[in-house]
Amino acid sequence: MTAVASSDAAASSQADVTAEIETIAAAYADGAAGIETQPRLDYPPYRSSLLRHPTKAPQQADPEGVELWAPVFGERDLDGSEADLTAQHDGEPIGERIVVEGRVVDGDGRPVRHQLVEVWQANAAGRYIHQRDQHPAPLDPHFTGMGRCLTDADGVYRFTTIKPGPYPWRNHRNAWRPAHIHFSLFGTEFTQRMVTQMYFPGDPLFALDPIYQSVVDPAARARLVATYDHELTQPEWCTGYRWDIVLTGAHRTLMEADAHADAGVAR
Ligand SMILES: [Fe+2]
Repeated sequence: MTAVASSDAAASSQADVTAEIETIAAAYADGAAGIETQPRLDYPPYRSSLLRHPTKAPQQADPEGVELWAPVFGERDLDGSEADLTAQHDGEPIGERIVVEGRVVDGDGRPVRHQLVEVWQANAAGRYIHQRDQHPAPLDPHFTGMGRCLTDADGVYRFTTIKPGPYPWRNHRNAWRPAHIHFSLFGTEFTQRMVTQMYFPGDPLFALDPIYQSVVDPAARARLVATYDHELTQPEWCTGYRWDIVLTGAHRTLMEADAHADAGVAR
């Protein structure tokens, strides 16, 4: 029995994967296929997604009317302290304390107000509290790595946390993820829900990571990287990062249905 579960994945080296990433990037740069702002689902360097990514076009259906405007979570569902991932235990977690703040807007530029933002992340050593994460880095008894908050009246979210470390994964031999924070956002309607990742500026692992590189457009990829913001940095306390998020246009499906006077027809 080998140390790595997937022999196919283990057979690839970082050099193999990097070469594939570069070939795809060059083809995209040469191509006239237009700008791709979303991750490619079929992205061979991302070995561990080869058999589990969708292979058929999504079936689009108009959501129920209530899903277009009903908030999923509200003030009574959250405790304000859930936005501080450094204050969920009796002691302080180890690592660089940071604040991450940003504004959530919809595709029309309007603030997404009072809606749920959830985050999860590895600790400073790059370890998740998860049964499947068994790599030999320490868990931190003072850090769970999950938080949530509601955006304010201006669409602003804010978390206090610890800068996560990079961690190994078994996509290929010696594969490491750049440091990142996972985000889930519920917009003003269920159809706006988005799950994504935020990265930190200047990470040396960017060029090597097939998840980050599966967004093949360089400008779209750069939008996943937070900006260091000295205005958010607090003296003697923490450094600050800013990361703004754009969700899809509000009520887009409904507007199309209205425009075509055929509400209820799947498209
Ligand atoms: Fe992760």
